[in-house]
Order: sequence, then C-alpha cells, then structure tokens
Amino acid sequence: MKGIILAGGTGSRLAPLTEMVNKHLLPVGRHPMISYGINRLKEAGITDILLIISKQSAGLYTQFLGSGSTYGVRLTYRIQDAAGGIADALELARHYVQPQEKFVVLLGDNLFVDDLGPIVQEYLKQPYGTAKVLLKQVDDPHRYGVPEFDPHDPEAILHIEEKPQHPKSDFCVTGIYMYDTSVFELIDGIVPSARGELEITDVNNRYAEQKALSYGILEQYWVDAGTFDSLEEAGLQMKNLLP
Ligand code: G1P
Repeated sequence: MKGIILAGGTGSRLAPLTEMVNKHLLPVGRHPMISYGINRLKEAGITDILLIISKQSAGLYTQFLGSGSTYGVRLTYRIQDAAGGIADALELARHYVQPQEKFVVLLGDNLFVDDLGPIVQEYLKQPYGTAKVLLKQVDDPHRYGVPEFDPHDPEAILHIEEKPQHPKSDFCVTGIYMYDTSVFELIDGIVPSARGELEITDVNNRYAEQKALSYGILEQYWVDAGTFDSLEEAGLQMKNLLP
C-alpha cells in the first residue's frame, strides 16, 4: 500500500509567511509540518510515499527530505503547477499507483496523533471500488466537510456537505482518505465547484451515493493547521510526537 501527501496548496491564510516558504515547510514544534504526515504513514507501515508539491520551495523539500532514507521511506515527488483543488492534486497520483492498488491520501496540513495502522488494515479488507474517510468530532464543523449519517444505519454516511451553514452533525471529514484506483474514474466525472476547485467532497459523495463509503473516527488530537491560531496550537500539541 502506498501513501500520497498533498502539499501543493498555497496557504494563503498563512501569508505573509507563505509568501516566503511553502506552508508545509513551516515549523510545527521542532520539525517542518511535512515531517508529521511522513511519520504517521511510516508508523502505519507505509514506506512508498508520493509528495505532491508546488514549484514554490521544491528545492527546499528535496534538500530537507532527500530520498526519504533518513525517515526510512522512499519518496517520489510530483509538481502541481497550479492549485485546482484537492481532487485535482490527487489526479497527479494516477500513474504512481498500480491498477486496483489501494492507498492512503493525507492533506499535508492535517496533523494528528492516532495510529493509522489498524484503520488501514480495516480498509484493506474492503472490496475494490470503495473508500474510507476519517472523521473527528469538532466544535466548529461549519469550517469543514461535514457528514450526514444515515438514521437507519449509523455505519453509513448519506452525504457530505462542504462548509455548511447548518451542519447536520458535529463531525468533520478530516483530510485523511483511503482509496483505490476507482477514485480516478470518479475524479474524471466531477466538475469544478463554485470556488473553481475539483472538490474531494464531490468525489466522496459519489462513493456515498453508491453505498461505498465507510468511515473511521480519530480519537486523539487532530488539527487542520491552515491558520495562525491552529498552527500555533499544533506546535504545542505535536511537540513530543517526533524525536
Ligand atoms: C478541505 C476539505 C474539507 C475537509 C478539510 C480538512 O478543506 O475540502 O472537506 O474537512 O480539508 O482539513 P479546505 O482546507 O480545502 O478548506
């Protein structure tokens, strides 16, 4: 199983810092943000990792991470020329994975403590053509993708709403996704949203419509470190996760 970390976003909410360096290289505790996702994948036994990065700071990524050998992983890099949404970035992984292969996708600014190992093992048992998302209970679901659970089947997500004004649950869909290569056919079938992006939520809703979307719940700390406040908080919370 492979891992894909999406780290191409511009991080405009963290300007002016992100005018100098890509968001995923900003410090979180003693390490750059990107190190945490690599570590979580490695701990789950995933050592083949594709990093999707932007042109900005590409040299810094390779200078700092190199081949990945000091982390015990094999890194491959792909450049995302322009930000076009999460699903657009994920499309760049199409030729990195083998037909029918399963993989984990992380948004590089999603930092978390839970061990992905057992969740990944559960996903490996799912049939081809199905996906899994990880949820986290939050105080402010309107900032995220929010699942609506099926009242007749609490194991099923009926639909995900992106940044709803009136969230239908107090869970958010985190930027931790598990797919197989069926995801690329679904990406081919979606169109840009009102904000001009190919939305991962639209892809996940296709799976939900087909009753092919399972979920897991993160029990420990999770943060989307895309704002100054959450970045600062992440620095304190994640301080001791990496040596
Ligand atoms: C993205 C997804 C959203 C998800 C969030 C998690 O939002 O679109 O569904 O809940 O990541 O970090 P964005 O950060 O692009 O606004």
